[in-house]
Amino acid sequence: MQQSPGKSPNVVRHRAAVSRPRRETLNGHMSANLWFTGLSGSGKSTLAHAIEERLHLMGCRTYVFDGDNVRHGLCGDLSFSLEDRTENLRRIAEMVNLFLDAGVLSLTAFISPLEADRAMVKEIIGHENIIEVYCNCPLEICEQRDVKGLYKKARAGEIKNYTGISSPYEAPLNPDIDINTGALPLRECVNIIIDDLRERGIILK
Ligand code: ADX
Repeated sequence: MQQSPGKSPNVVRHRAAVSRPRRETLNGHMSANLWFTGLSGSGKSTLAHAIEERLHLMGCRTYVFDGDNVRHGLCGDLSFSLEDRTENLRRIAEMVNLFLDAGVLSLTAFISPLEADRAMVKEIIGHENIIEVYCNCPLEICEQRDVKGLYKKARAGEIKNYTGISSPYEAPLNPDIDINTGALPLRECVNIIIDDLRERGIILK
């Protein structure tokens, strides 16, 4: 029997009879996680939501976790210090685990700027369950787009620890998918990822 580590040692897992494989069979697809990393404005959320739309129309069970949304609730107590970003991503990875068990295809759109944090996330989620997608868009383009006006504020010193300006972004060295979101049309990016999910046997249609 597996005991819980940390501050709640006397907690024992209950094994559900309705298991992940049974849920996957019912759903007609595997559960998995697509982890989007990239600068703010690189298109992570746009791409994640567009893929979700396509998958949903195909009858898949999906959910998008998005930095801008979870930071209002689940992670609303966290700042953008590197320590708090680590905690943000740890919580999301644990949440992804629950969604894997629930048979869901989750899509997570977080800057996740540090290689070490992405390694932690992969440990928690399990390398076999996660597909790392690097939204590869140069800082200059993200800054030109500046959809939320935050780069302008960061340049003016009104926002501190801003990724790409005053806080680091370490590009993934070996992502599963490296997608040029700076140049490719959204539709093409979606097609690349849907094809990849088919090749991996995660979706069957
Ligand atoms: S992460 O680094 O912990 O992965 P996350 O993806 O949750 O970041 O949040 C990033 C979003 O928060 C950005 O898209 C941006 O809209 C907003 N934001 C506000 N302040 C910052 C900041 N200092 N650095 C980066 N993003 C920020």
